[in-house]
Amino acid sequence: MKFLEEIKRRRTFGIVSHPDAGKTTLTEKLLLFGGAIHVAGAVKSNKIKKSATSDFMEIERQRGISVATSVMGFEYDGYKVNILDTPGHQDFQEDTFRTLTAVDSVIIVIDSAKGVEPQTEKLMNVCRMRKTPVIVFINKLDRPALDPFSLLDEIEEQLKINVRPLSWPINSGQNFKGVYNIFNHNLKLFDPDIQRIKNGILLEDIEDPDLLNHIGEDADTLREELELVDAVYPQFDRDEYLKGDLAPVFYGSALYNFGVEEMLNVFLKIAPSPQPSVTIERTVYPDEEAFSGFVFKIHANIDPNHRSRIAFVKICSGRFERNKFYNHVRLGKNIRISSPTAFMAEQKEIIEEAYPGDIIGVPDNGSFIIGDTITDGENIHFKGLPSFSPELFRYIENGDPMKYKQLNKGIDQLMDEGVAQLFVSQFNGRKIIGTVGQLQFEVIQFRLEHEYGAKCRFEPLQLYKACWIESDNIEVLTEFKKRKYQKMAKDKRDRDVFMPDTAFMLQIAREEFKDIKFHFTSEF
Ligand code: G4P
Repeated sequence: MKFLEEIKRRRTFGIVSHPDAGKTTLTEKLLLFGGAIHVAGAVKSNKIKKSATSDFMEIERQRGISVATSVMGFEYDGYKVNILDTPGHQDFQEDTFRTLTAVDSVIIVIDSAKGVEPQTEKLMNVCRMRKTPVIVFINKLDRPALDPFSLLDEIEEQLKINVRPLSWPINSGQNFKGVYNIFNHNLKLFDPDIQRIKNGILLEDIEDPDLLNHIGEDADTLREELELVDAVYPQFDRDEYLKGDLAPVFYGSALYNFGVEEMLNVFLKIAPSPQPSVTIERTVYPDEEAFSGFVFKIHANIDPNHRSRIAFVKICSGRFERNKFYNHVRLGKNIRISSPTAFMAEQKEIIEEAYPGDIIGVPDNGSFIIGDTITDGENIHFKGLPSFSPELFRYIENGDPMKYKQLNKGIDQLMDEGVAQLFVSQFNGRKIIGTVGQLQFEVIQFRLEHEYGAKCRFEPLQLYKACWIESDNIEVLTEFKKRKYQKMAKDKRDRDVFMPDTAFMLQIAREEFKDIKFHFTSEF
């Protein structure tokens, strides 16, 4: 197959949701369609359940599973589908944000009884920032659900995106009768006893008298509601969707595999193939001949005796070839990747080549950090992998004087993996770890001990945020750093970060130094 055709047939996307909305269940059903798995239940959730927050063995087990299910590739109907999984637990949301930099589109799963939840909003904010096209799947219609119109209003208001339903539910819960596919004009009936794919009954015309035989008195309501849908929502416009301004909405039940195939078929038709990527120097187009890619995720091996890791590389342009020499831009050195793996469902297999949109796994002994660029030779740096200000901060201290070296190495490597963020106070030289949630501290402590043989202690630290500072006026910046030296730190890349104790302290700094911009992300 020609290079351009390979690119065009790729669909690389992420499935995101608030925990428990049904992301894992939906992923599993998509894999069933792709023949990537054969029985339901084969994909274990990589989410760490709330009850397991202190269960380290569980975390370890989950980490092992999530290597296999981090990326799931399969062939379906002529398309090469790459699904990127994201951690469900909100303490690992930065990992999720990074994964979203490697996708071309997103499916958001919403629980029809709960509507938009806090994590859904946060994830949508990231999609909006990056203008990522999103499709919404409203799940669990087999249970009593909120009114479909109210759900659409809620999505528009809270997720701040226009919507266009492309399917429509007939009731929910006990009375759930099925879903009318607005895109293809067919009706699919729901049968809770059949958890398999059932051929939909094709009804080209909603006025067909046969409708009555299928759904009885609900036929009139369905017709009215569909009329209302057409009156209220503009026709689906793919360009609007591709620009990230319009979200097509589907209804279904992932558990019963209902409405999933419809969504998948429409999704494959309308979703974008690999998109251009932005580097500091220029925009990179997928159809360029020269190979380029970047590392968006690093996964530690679960075997503590072998500290090898897997770097996940998203291919942005050109054809990747095994054993060819490529330029590791940050190190300024040529590297040869001899055992790249593809992630086809549960198996990892060595591959000879890969195309834009694909993710390859590269075994790594510490030469990669998140954000690294690999190219055919050109010195470019991919953008879009910002660090976000952590929410929680602690000093990290050595718990065993004999293991100082191990501790430092461990901290360095865990930070390269993106487990948390490290700052060094310019005032007292102490190391500060910043996280999104408490669980990350526990993971760090556990992994330092088990993988590096080092002990650490965390000491409380009350900080409001990490603010990356920027100004055109160098003198003002120097003055600021001098005046606020007690609250200045360096991040892992030696950038200046202001760490105020409170929101009020930040406000004062803003008023005092109007020429300085304070950012809650490291990329602006
Ligand atoms: P997540 O990855 O978004 O966190 O959600 P997950 O798929 O694990 O689903 C969360 C719970 O919701 C699971 O039940 C799952 O079976 C259920 N679920 C998912 N989709 C549907 C649906 O369409 N209808 C109904 N009725 N339930 C659905 P659980 O009891 O928490 O877990 P499990 O023991 O079934 O795995």
